[in-house]
Amino acid sequence: MEIIIQETQQAATDVAARIIARLLREKPDAVVGLATGSTPLSLYQTLISMDLDWSKVTTFNLDEYIGLPREHPQSYHNFMWGNLFQHINVAKENIHIPDGNAKDIPRFCTEYEERIQASGGIDLQVLGIGTDGHIGFNEPTSSLASRTRIKTLTQQTCRDNARFFGSGETVPHHVITMGIGTIMEARQNLLLAFGENKAGAIAAAVEGPVTSINPASILQMHPSVKVCLDEPAAGGLQRADYYRWVYENKPAWQTF
Ligand code: PGA
Repeated sequence: MEIIIQETQQAATDVAARIIARLLREKPDAVVGLATGSTPLSLYQTLISMDLDWSKVTTFNLDEYIGLPREHPQSYHNFMWGNLFQHINVAKENIHIPDGNAKDIPRFCTEYEERIQASGGIDLQVLGIGTDGHIGFNEPTSSLASRTRIKTLTQQTCRDNARFFGSGETVPHHVITMGIGTIMEARQNLLLAFGENKAGAIAAAVEGPVTSINPASILQMHPSVKVCLDEPAAGGLQRADYYRWVYENKPAWQTF
């Protein structure tokens, strides 16, 4: 794991954006896994401002609420179109987001996995982290070998996400999410976390034991993970000074 700690959210975002920009320059037909939530918003704004060529890129989103109409402001379809896709030149037919209204959800999930395989696999997966350590919507105790499937959200995640929904609206309890096994097959994972409310989850994921109680901790077993943090999200890390020292001493050819 490469832990990149920056003073501000924007500085950490800029590092993440440069990693993605480099991938798109080196591999114009890259397969990119995308995330939703408040964390990647600044990343998407930065990527939009970089005016990259997405015309040959294929995207796969991590997750979607079950039963929320696509046009609902909080559906992840709506989120992705509003915050990224309508601002870049990605081809509509290359965009994949789980269908939370699929008639046969288990079948849809199997087909989603098949589509990822058929695309050649995900080159880089963008990840946020829940305050409970989830990646995608793989909640604590998710199988570390899981594939795309239906999950029930924890009450904590429902509470965390209630801020996006109107008063009187209920956060859906069920979602489709790529599995942890699916995420682990991405060639590269790029985890972003900002703010002190993520510090505990990040400390457990980076320096704690590998355990399904903190699903993000499985990333310790992945050969290529970069974790972009602002100072508050890095606040619980015991070895933060070492991670800063490593980043400051990177040889020029390794920097982004
Ligand atoms: P957030 O969610 O970016 O809205 O904090 C992250 C997540 O739940 O993965």
